[in-house]
Amino acid sequence: MDRSLVLEYVRVTEAAAIAASSMIGRGECDGADQRAVTAMRDAFERVRARGTIVIGEGERDEAPMLYIGEKVGPEREDLPEVDIAVDPLEGTNLCATGGPGSIAVLAVAKRGDLLAAPDTYMYKVATGPEGRGRVSLSQTPTENLRALAAAKGRRPDEMTVVVLDRPRHAGLIQELRAAGARLMLITDGDVAPAVATCIPTSGIDMVYGTGGAPEGVLSASAMVALGGEFQGQLRFRNEHERERASAMGMRDPDAVLSIGDLVRGDVIFVASGVTSGPLLKGVRRIGDHLHIHTLALRSHTGTIRFIETQVDARRFPYQYVGK
Ligand code: FBP
Repeated sequence: MDRSLVLEYVRVTEAAAIAASSMIGRGECDGADQRAVTAMRDAFERVRARGTIVIGEGERDEAPMLYIGEKVGPEREDLPEVDIAVDPLEGTNLCATGGPGSIAVLAVAKRGDLLAAPDTYMYKVATGPEGRGRVSLSQTPTENLRALAAAKGRRPDEMTVVVLDRPRHAGLIQELRAAGARLMLITDGDVAPAVATCIPTSGIDMVYGTGGAPEGVLSASAMVALGGEFQGQLRFRNEHERERASAMGMRDPDAVLSIGDLVRGDVIFVASGVTSGPLLKGVRRIGDHLHIHTLALRSHTGTIRFIETQVDARRFPYQYVGK
């Protein structure tokens, strides 16, 4: 994929982040999500690529924009065809409550290279590069914690593990605590901490537990570029979801999926902060400018870009910045 696309997609997550930021702390999840979706959809039209949404806001009949299968970008034969996974506002609750770590995020790959994960759950583990070949979902959480700690030259009680604070994780939380881990329990948003495991200054060593499957593909996309470890296993809530996964072409819906199963070739990953969190600063208004913090990754070269953008709030379309 053309490297100039990276900056074009940065503009897309920036637009979604700005739009969502106008709804920070307003207690309106739907409203915040809607603003991010509209801004992202709009921004895609200015990117020189013919995109197909493979992970988005849901099926065509349940989402008016960024639905699975929707074509985005100009319909021009000379433009490259790409598959796109999006979450215009990952951590909707966090944005609505002013909590830490909501982001606008997307991943782009050649047509057919991203797993079109069904909208179900995924049991996941994510670590930085030290976890590669050492951490695996076929091992227990205790074994994985010890293996990663050893690879990092630390004791298990010096390791920070992020887990979504959910009743379904009671056993996992108990086990990791008993093994000595420092747990960081989060209310929402497992993509940013997964990516943060590859950023040593984040202080996050591992993300563990069950979250959204689409979010798993987004996290794995970043790991391709950052050299981290990610494994996932779909967790279905009912037979319908399992059948849907089979219908989508998954031969063994219960298999443990490696990064290569989730993302096949080169990938571009871009995320902009909405509220400040472990990976990115949120959108801030300073004087007449909006400051936006973005991480842009291109796996082809392994380049990691943290970008600080300032846009003139007075010139930005009002529907994105609030009235
Ligand atoms: P949304 O952005 O769709 O609100 O998802 C937030 C999130 O916390 C994800 O980061 C996570 O993977 C998933 O929801 C967990 O699902 P649940 O809230 O059902 O436990």
